[in-house]
Amino acid sequence: MKGIGAATAFLTAASSLFGGVAAIDKISRKGRYLYNDSGERFYIKGIAYQEQGAVVAGDDNPFGEPSGFFDPLSNTDACKRDVPYLTQLGVNAVRVYSVNSSLNHDGCMEAFSNAGIYTLLDLALPGNASMDRNAPTWSTNLLDHYLRTIDAFEKYDNVLAVNVGNEVVTAEALTATPFIKAAARDVKAYLKSKSSSVLVGYSAIDGETSFRVPIAEFFSCGSDAESIDLYGLNEYAWCGDSDYATSYANIDADYADYNVVAYFSEVGCITSPPRLWTEMEAIFSEPMSDHWSGAIAFSYFPAESVQGQFGMVTISDDAKTVTTSSDFDRLVEEYGKISPPNSPTSSSDNYPSCASSLTGASTKLPGTPDDKGCSCIYDALACQFTPATNNYTVIVGELLNNACSMIGQSGGSCDILAADGATGTYGSLSGCSPEVKLSYIMSQYYAANNNDQQACSFAGNGTVNGASTSQASAVASSCLPSPSAVFTPTTPSSESSSGGGSSGGGSNGGSDSGSGSGSGSSGDGGDGALGMFVDPRAVMGVFGLMVVGAVSGLWTLV
Ligand SMILES: *[C@@H]1O[C@H](CO)[C@@H](O)[C@H](O)[C@H]1NC(C)=O
Ligand SMILES: *[C@@H]1O[C@H](CO)[C@@H](O)[C@H](O)[C@H]1NC(C)=O
Ligand SMILES: *[C@@H]1O[C@H](CO)[C@@H](O)[C@H](O)[C@H]1NC(C)=O
Ligand SMILES: *[C@@H]1O[C@H](CO)[C@@H](O)[C@H](O)[C@H]1NC(C)=O
Ligand SMILES: *[C@@H]1O[C@H](CO)[C@@H](O)[C@H](O)[C@H]1NC(C)=O
Repeated sequence: MKGIGAATAFLTAASSLFGGVAAIDKISRKGRYLYNDSGERFYIKGIAYQEQGAVVAGDDNPFGEPSGFFDPLSNTDACKRDVPYLTQLGVNAVRVYSVNSSLNHDGCMEAFSNAGIYTLLDLALPGNASMDRNAPTWSTNLLDHYLRTIDAFEKYDNVLAVNVGNEVVTAEALTATPFIKAAARDVKAYLKSKSSSVLVGYSAIDGETSFRVPIAEFFSCGSDAESIDLYGLNEYAWCGDSDYATSYANIDADYADYNVVAYFSEVGCITSPPRLWTEMEAIFSEPMSDHWSGAIAFSYFPAESVQGQFGMVTISDDAKTVTTSSDFDRLVEEYGKISPPNSPTSSSDNYPSCASSLTGASTKLPGTPDDKGCSCIYDALACQFTPATNNYTVIVGELLNNACSMIGQSGGSCDILAADGATGTYGSLSGCSPEVKLSYIMSQYYAANNNDQQACSFAGNGTVNGASTSQASAVASSCLPSPSAVFTPTTPSSESSSGGGSSGGGSNGGSDSGSGSGSGSSGDGGDGALGMFVDPRAVMGVFGLMVVGAVSGLWTLV
């Protein structure tokens, strides 16, 4: 065994000397540390790698949140252009905030792997493929999006971790907590079912210890099956010429007893320029190295917020030339100085029992979103949402609000759709996509109006399903007998969303079936009504969902 380890180490060294293609090391988590194949501690020495999406300025977008994104791992030329600079920085990881699972990532992933660079991938996207902190839920559409992204990166050897959320839970909006933990649980089960060693992470916003620490502990409590592996803290406390005592001692103490890997998923305060990057010396040495496994410097590409410019390179208009800044040079120097200790040499898994209560969030998790069950419901409902456009994200929320208001006036309620992360109350359809939810309420309204064709129209958004023979409530309980069940999810691509047999497709009027694949037109809610944007430094825009934002209004209507 010893001999094999040495040979691998030799090959790795040789490959970096001769530009060969030896496989990159597998990194695993043991307890609160990361180790490589030779059992040495692994520290994330990284940089954020994502071009900022287009920002639509406006009064309703005070922090300049981007509404779109460029997938940085789909542009092979750019990755090859950047590898020498990443190598100059000595980084072994890049954090990437948004990728498009339908694009090809072979070129970038190979170029990075050959350069010994791992990727940390956020699974959410700006627009509707993210959890809205103001009206959070964990539903099939988001789960499927996450699983498709995991599938698209399954074949690469240098995916270190996937993040199930970035700054979703804030001091003001804690109710996403149980949904994030459920997302980590389901994504983890999926990875395990594929024998994947990819770790599951979450990146937290900084803020008061009193909310930040209990949430961090909740994400890592209970058991391996429901714990995150990697806790990232986006932390900009070290500004200018600072020191451990001033900037990090308190934060360090907060995580002294943490049980899984913690690292800084963003660092690089810009409020006292120039950035010296001396925080790296603190993070990568004792005492901090006992509690932390590295950092991601923010950011390689230009990334601007109200605070200023975080980027460290500029790219020429023809995209061929990289110009580095003095921030970049100082980061090269500081990353060059670090030599973190290879200790402790082992750590074992331990999962404290979960706190019985949290302030502002329930400790009770929702079940696993059930694609089969939700498709079964859609197929069997008497009135189906059949949008005239693939770009229906914007109208789903509005229609849901209207439909719930109308059903409320006729004595019904939308409680079956509701997901309340504060009380841990999850309606049995809360894990279904907005389209299935809307079809359910449309069907109820249609039934309440004695199956009058007009009552299913919703201005041309609904279609009567002639094949349906059951009441909506009966459909829900037969298709989803145990909505709180926890199980290993599978990607829906292998099943047809228009399953259900019989003549379900006949009356669909040629429209896209609501729970189907759609064209993924990114649904970025053009009017900028994205979720409230709390952190003026976070400029990657992985929040906000107009659909659910509008849905949130609904609970006050019924
Ligand atoms: C593990 O990490 C150590 C320290 O960085 C390195 O010397 C060693 O080659 C690595 N092991 C393998 C198998 O790459
Ligand atoms: C986002 O909305 C589009 C339609 O506008 C849909 O095709 C897509 O599946 C949605 N994505 C998620 C994750 O809900
Ligand atoms: C569907 O609903 C939206 C939102 O209420 C409305 O603007 C639209 O006119 C309706 N009809 C069609 C065919 O999209
Ligand atoms: C992903 O890329 C495809 C192909 O270019 C595009 O049609 C689709 O809109 C993109 N999806 C997102 C969410 O940007
Ligand atoms: C989707 O619809 C919204 C609102 O009607 C519009 O602003 C946006 O440009 C549309 N997006 C696409 C890709 O068609």
